[in-house]
This record gives sequence, C-alpha cells and structure tokens, in this order.
Amino acid sequence: MTSDTYRPRRSVLYMPASNERALAKIASLACDAVVINLEDGVGPADKISARDRVADFLAARPERRCEMVVRINPLGSEWGADDLLAVAKAGPDGILLPKIGTPRDILEAGDLLDDNFALDTVKLWAMIETPKALLNIGAIAELGRDPASRLACFVAGTNDLVKATGVLAIPDRRYLMPWLLQLVLAARAGGLDVIDGVANDFRDLDGFARECAEAAAMGFDGKSLIHPAQIEPANRAFTPSPEALAQARVIRDAFSRPENAGKSVIALDGRMVERLHLAEAEKLLAKAAIIGA
Ligand code: COA
Ligand code: MG
Repeated sequence: MTSDTYRPRRSVLYMPASNERALAKIASLACDAVVINLEDGVGPADKISARDRVADFLAARPERRCEMVVRINPLGSEWGADDLLAVAKAGPDGILLPKIGTPRDILEAGDLLDDNFALDTVKLWAMIETPKALLNIGAIAELGRDPASRLACFVAGTNDLVKATGVLAIPDRRYLMPWLLQLVLAARAGGLDVIDGVANDFRDLDGFARECAEAAAMGFDGKSLIHPAQIEPANRAFTPSPEALAQARVIRDAFSRPENAGKSVIALDGRMVERLHLAEAEKLLAKAAIIGA
C-alpha cells in the first residue's frame, strides 16, 4: 500500500452468484469489496446461467460504493476462459482467479484480457490456496511490480489450503500461520494488497473479531467474509485505532518542529523515532483520511 493509491479492502464479502437477493443488496452493504462467486458453490448445471446473470447484473451498472470483483472458474476448467471474457466485458473492478499455481496462470489471464480489449481498470486478484502457489509465491508476487500484469491483490484460500495439505484446522490457526505470514511478506515484496481467508463459523462474532485483530497484526489489509454480520467487525479491525492515529500525529508534529527539521533521528518520550517512523505515521494518517476514520 502506498498512501497515494490506498484503496480500502478491509472487508471483502463473498456472495454466491445464485443469491439474487444478496446481489440486489450490494449498494446497501458497508463492505469495501464484494466477490460474486461463480466457482465453488455453483453446480455444473448452473455455471453458464450464473455467468450470464452476473454479466448482466454488472453491465446494468448497479449503484455501488464498494469494489465489485467476480471469482471465475479456474482457467483450466471448461468454463474459465468464457467466464473471464464475459465478466471482463461487463467492467468489474476485479476478476479473482482461483487455484492458480504459477506466474504463468496470471500472465495467461492478463493476455486473454488484453487480446480482447478489456479495460485497463479490470484488475486481477489471485486466490492463494494451493501448495504450488505458496511454493511459487515470490515469483507470482513479482508480477505486482508490472502494472501491465493487472495483478492487484492476493486472497488467502484457507479452506482449500487445509484441504490440500491436511493440516489441522483449529481456531488459533497455528499450522496455517507460517504460510499466511509468507503470503503477507510476498505481497509486500510485490506491492500488492493481501486479504486473509474466511472464518467459517459466521455466528461466532467474538471469535471473528479476534481473528480480524490477529490478521491486522499480521499485516493483512483485510479479511474475506461470508456473511454481512462480519462486515462491521472487519471494518473496525482494519481501521487505524484512535490511539495509533494520536501517536502518528505526535510523531508528525515532532518532526515538523524547526529544531528537528534536519534530523534523521530524534528522541520522543524516551523512544528513538526515525524518519521511517515519520513515513509510517504519514501513511497511517493518509489511510485514515481516505477511510474517513
Ligand atoms: N452476501 C450477501 N448477503 C448475504 C450473505 C452474503 N454472503 N449471506 C447471507 N446474506 C443475507 C441473506 O441473503 C439474508 O438476507 P434476506 O434476509 O434478505 O434473505 C440475510 O443475509 C441473513 O442470512 P442468514 O439467514 O443469516 O444466513 P443464511 O443461512 O441464509 O446463509 C450462508 C448462510 C453461509 C449460506 C451464506 O451466508 C452464504 O452463502 N455465504 C457466502 C458463502 C460463499 O460464497 N462461500 C464461498 C467462499 S468461501
Ligand atoms: Mg477455494
């Protein structure tokens, strides 16, 4: 994230393409992004009608204040390429690619979009949910440095990772942690946003708030959600706290004093504060201003 390009992705809500009531409610939801899902959860018999419904829905330019992203079927499946082109034509903010494994998977999707004159504003998001993607994560993230790749965001697919690896899924997520932190690290190397996976138990909002706080502490930009009740706790967890903002203002004000003008490091209330802390503080303040915190 850079302060000039910051776009909040605190709360990213999945909704099944088949749920017309949910689609109709998008404009009233306070999430930062929705992911309309054509992949898991849409049966083979419904794949094509769901794709057409989503393309029509987006093409009608529904009122929106959040980013609209569509998760298509894997490009290697019989629906993937047609999903990509039909959805891209309708002008979503992003297309989320599931089950990717290598940089080539992103490049192929990008080439298909370019060859079919998709708008540059259609970005690619990538599910990181296979062992192969995690093993290749540095090379995949590197594509984020080239705007022509369209790659903008990683989304952790924790349910699929659990399934593919056999690690035990327990509430503290201890066996997933090394991979999740590696994902955050790679995203930062590539200048990409990165969204944590879902919490399946959508009635346990206390547990959800804890998981969001942990994800924020790990450096994620936001959380994947499956139910509207999860929007508010996610937005709260990924919004800079009043304490953090107050501290950022103290640092900014200290460096703006004439006696500190040329200094690269100062002492503030018994702590060492460097210019990198100033940059961090300014980024946080800019982020809060954009969110309206
Ligand atoms: N997006 C938008 N609206 C949603 C929603 C979602 N993901 N999940 C629930 N709602 C709506 C329901 O449509 C319902 O609205 P209504 O009263 O107008 O009908 C309202 O919120 C309350 O829903 P509730 O009864 O609490 O949940 P449910 O039992 O109907 O649905 C799930 C539970 C898990 C099936 C549903 O939340 C869901 O489909 N989530 C997304 C799952 C998904 O996409 N998974 C793939 C990624 S892992
Ligand atoms: Mg998945």
